[in-house]
Amino acid sequence: MKAKVGAWRGCLVALLVLVSGHGYADVTQEAQVIVHADRPGPVIHPEIYGQFAEQLGRGIYGGIWVGENSSIPNIRGYRKDVVDALKAIKVPVIRWPGGCFADQYDWRDGIGPRDKRPVRMNASWGGEDSNQFGTQEFMDFAELIGAKTYISINVGTGTPREMSQWIEYMTADGRSSLAQERRANGRDKPWKLDYVGIGNEMWGCGGSMRSQFYADVYRQYATFVHAPRNAPLVRVASGANADDVGWTDTVMSIAGSQIDAISLHNYTIPTGNWLHKGSATQFGESEWMSALQGALRMDDLIAKHSAVMDKYDPKKRVALVVDEWGNWMDQEPGASEAALYQQNSLRDALSAAITLDIFHAHADRVRMANIAQMVNVLQAMILTDQSRMVLTPTYYVFDMYKVFQGATYLPVDIQAPAYRYGTASVPGVHATAGRDAAGVVHVALVNLDPHHADTVRLTIPGVKGSAVHGRELTAPAINTINTFDHPDRVKPEPFDCATFKHGLVTVVLPPKSVVVLDLH
Ligand code: AHR
Repeated sequence: MKAKVGAWRGCLVALLVLVSGHGYADVTQEAQVIVHADRPGPVIHPEIYGQFAEQLGRGIYGGIWVGENSSIPNIRGYRKDVVDALKAIKVPVIRWPGGCFADQYDWRDGIGPRDKRPVRMNASWGGEDSNQFGTQEFMDFAELIGAKTYISINVGTGTPREMSQWIEYMTADGRSSLAQERRANGRDKPWKLDYVGIGNEMWGCGGSMRSQFYADVYRQYATFVHAPRNAPLVRVASGANADDVGWTDTVMSIAGSQIDAISLHNYTIPTGNWLHKGSATQFGESEWMSALQGALRMDDLIAKHSAVMDKYDPKKRVALVVDEWGNWMDQEPGASEAALYQQNSLRDALSAAITLDIFHAHADRVRMANIAQMVNVLQAMILTDQSRMVLTPTYYVFDMYKVFQGATYLPVDIQAPAYRYGTASVPGVHATAGRDAAGVVHVALVNLDPHHADTVRLTIPGVKGSAVHGRELTAPAINTINTFDHPDRVKPEPFDCATFKHGLVTVVLPPKSVVVLDLH
């Protein structure tokens, strides 16, 4: 439902009409939000809006890379539509080549003339990898869209020597033979490498290691990460799965002094059953609720891992990076299981919004996050089908929230009715806020309740303004999706249901919606 009337009263009347037409119970729910602009917090690192792109399914091939000779419009082999869409949301950093794929990847397979590169089995995900997309293509792609680079190193089947040679190939200047080899392959100046992940999921697909063993392996590898002069690298230790704080504890205690960042992976499975994760499109309110509960769990996970890190690093020098997160549902009918191709609905959009809110609230410790994944895989920004492309509801949340990249976090207090379904209950209204470099305060509000609108009274001590502009994202149903034939069903619209008078912002927040306001 949409309330598209300019004035506040008009919004309320429109809501009453629309809501009663949909059989909603009432619109009289009230919520209070205080944005403490007078108590600014840390900077929201842009890298929290990072992406993850693995060599699997159609994530890279078809989704990003089509090759220079493709009939699909491309820039040096990269899909132009995808490049433009990613630039528009200011992707700050990309993690590549995996995931599980990374720990069986030989970087030498993906350099040099493309027609000479070997075809390898994709041992992690099935099928073959043509290696047409390798180091050269990844680093150029990141440069093309203006993103930082995050390479996940092969620890599971690789060696420290292979790692240090790969880093040298990418970053060395001067006359080293690896720098010369890179030049012979067409790249004169070194690339900018920003993050190096020492393995991926080392407790699982990365080598089934125990935490003590991995901590020592990490120390060994970290010793041989040679950063180029004046271009420091962030070394990321492979961190825990979900709530395994014991992993974080051991790795921090043994290797903490050599760690710049440690990762955390957490996926939401709406049914809680990995064998039947639940449909991305055919679900009822019960799985709406469970997916949102899953997203909200991130707050507790970060708090627990961060508390363990505090034992060894009370000044928070070491970052916690959530370098895989998102909703993992059953693949779409017809897609191969290992391709991890799933649709993306309004539910994914709201899940993403409340997760980003949580990252903001932990900005003192969480300094990068990478949603899984960028194109055609899991909770993707973008889906493609041959020459066609569709932007997902999750993409639009990243678009609306890009104003928070680099903003100063402003703490929020929220009082709102719970949203209940059966015996489950979650806070109905969520909010986050930040002040950008130009002084504009941005506030995001999310209403998880699919039935009730909320009248939100927002006060911002320390901000004297009167102009409010905004955008909203909502849809007719909880499972509304964008398709190749109907790409605009879930898309941000201008939001007119807010006023800013005498220091009070009053907002009619529609059911199941995300609203981002700019306050001047
Ligand atoms: O994102 C898909 C897979 O999930 C990654 O390869 C792995 O790291 C995780 O288990």
